[in-house]
Amino acid sequence: MQMGWVQPKLIIHGGAGSALKGQKGADAVRRSLYAVIEEVYPLLQQGADAKTAVIRGCQLLEDDPRFNAGTGSVLQSDGQIRMSASLMDGDRQRFSGVINAARLKNPIELADFLQNSDDRVLSDIGALELLRELQVPYYDPSTKLRLQEWMLEREGNFDKAMAGVVAEQELVSEAGRGTIGVVVLDSAGRLAAGTSTGGKGFERIGRVSDSAMPAGNYANRYAAVSCTGIGEHIIEECLAARIVIRVSDGMSLSTAFDKSFQEAQSRDRDFGAIGIDANGSIAWGKTSQVLLAAYHDGEKIGDTLGMDLGCLTQVDIPAAKVN
Ligand code: GLY
Repeated sequence: MQMGWVQPKLIIHGGAGSALKGQKGADAVRRSLYAVIEEVYPLLQQGADAKTAVIRGCQLLEDDPRFNAGTGSVLQSDGQIRMSASLMDGDRQRFSGVINAARLKNPIELADFLQNSDDRVLSDIGALELLRELQVPYYDPSTKLRLQEWMLEREGNFDKAMAGVVAEQELVSEAGRGTIGVVVLDSAGRLAAGTSTGGKGFERIGRVSDSAMPAGNYANRYAAVSCTGIGEHIIEECLAARIVIRVSDGMSLSTAFDKSFQEAQSRDRDFGAIGIDANGSIAWGKTSQVLLAAYHDGEKIGDTLGMDLGCLTQVDIPAAKVN
């Protein structure tokens, strides 16, 4: 092992919300999540930096129509898709993102481009103008399933709070919350986080998601966190930044997750989060019924799919810290 080499860590999520439709639904989501882990983790072993790995993970999750981000995004109340994504490089403590961007395949790529721009968060028309400048080809991220879901909801006059957490053949009958996220510690000890979403689904035009705010995606040299769930709740808890700042001030990742989720539970919040600290601890937490997350801790792949009601937070502590 080289001096200064750190065991890379990776955790990803595909949303949080109400329970999936049975074991078949869970198996399909697990397969999708594991395919991403199996492509991204080897990049980290080969020395890829945290930001590059986060971007690749987000691209893959955005391209999977099962998840509510990129292709397969939910439709807003007017039947249009508007997506939000952000990228935070913990090493530089630099945040960039797009809010309500339309007509593109991978919103995380715009967030990546903006990392080196003076203006680092662009909304709707600004994002569209940037796409034109960069000559990014027009792309329609809609899928048949999401369109059917919207039609069904329109018949009921949009009485659901949110669209399905993942696109399922039998359309979900209960509210869910979808987003994708990737958090990485690379072999040089750098952290990064990325989050991308189609939003809540059926929302008013102009509604702003947490996914392109430090509330939903935050990283520095101490920790990195990506959130999923009801954006309004995540914003009100300022969840990602809250956990990261607690760790920066000396709290362990485990205690920071526990404390933040206990507080959230007492305020009836509905969301989940994943995170990694600079020591290589991996953590996840949820107040929703399910959190669709999977991770690689250097030894094994694991996931949170079997953890229905009950678990608030859990931490995978590194076997040994490598300096
Ligand atoms: N967390 C995704 C959203 O509420 O937009």
